[in-house]
Amino acid sequence: MSSAINTRRLTPEDWQLYRRVRLAALKEAPYAFGSTYEGAVDAPERSWRERLADRTCFIAEVDGVVAGTISITASTYSRAADITAMWVDPRFRRQGVGNTLLATALGWARAVGHEQVLLWVTDVNVAAQRLYAQGGFVRTGASQEVRPGELEHEMSLRL
Ligand SMILES: CC(C)(COP(=O)(O)OP(=O)(O)OC[C@H]1O[C@@H](n2cnc3c(N)ncnc32)[C@H](O)[C@@H]1OP(=O)(O)O)[C@@H](O)C(=O)NCCC(=O)NCCS
Repeated sequence: MSSAINTRRLTPEDWQLYRRVRLAALKEAPYAFGSTYEGAVDAPERSWRERLADRTCFIAEVDGVVAGTISITASTYSRAADITAMWVDPRFRRQGVGNTLLATALGWARAVGHEQVLLWVTDVNVAAQRLYAQGGFVRTGASQEVRPGELEHEMSLRL
């Protein structure tokens, strides 16, 4: 029997859970993110609560166990929404959790009226690039350094 994947939106009251998941992501997959574990580990409760208030953060659970996360927020510069901070616990990869989180974030973006979703993915992150391409995202052509000598690329999906 296949496992049930459920997603739910977190609130500022979930900050301790979110802190645990985000720190696990930064520690396990530093190549995937612009932020670092060292930069996040000492952040105070207030900043975790603000993060959950400022953006829409979801977690996925598989049979009640936290399996991954994704965040989406209205872009500062356009009417697009930005996807950030996506991560699936290695124990749950290649089981559709990433696709489910992406579908949940895109559903939120559609529901609030966004017409485009943007994200940045690092050059080395082939798994995520494939996931996004499979979901219909295409490269915009914009690239920037995420770390010295390492590029990240912008991808876009028209909803
Ligand atoms: C990228 C990531 C989120 C994928 O999560 P996942 O739950 O394994 O994804 P899914 O099982 O839903 O897979 C969806 C598709 O993504 C692609 N994909 C996922 N992992 C892959 C891998 N290791 N190699 C190649 N393609 C991969 C495939 O196209 C896959 O479809 P398929 O299984 O039908 O071939 C996960 O590997 C992860 O958390 N990586 C570290 C953090 C990260 O990269 N975050 C994204 C930052 S932009």
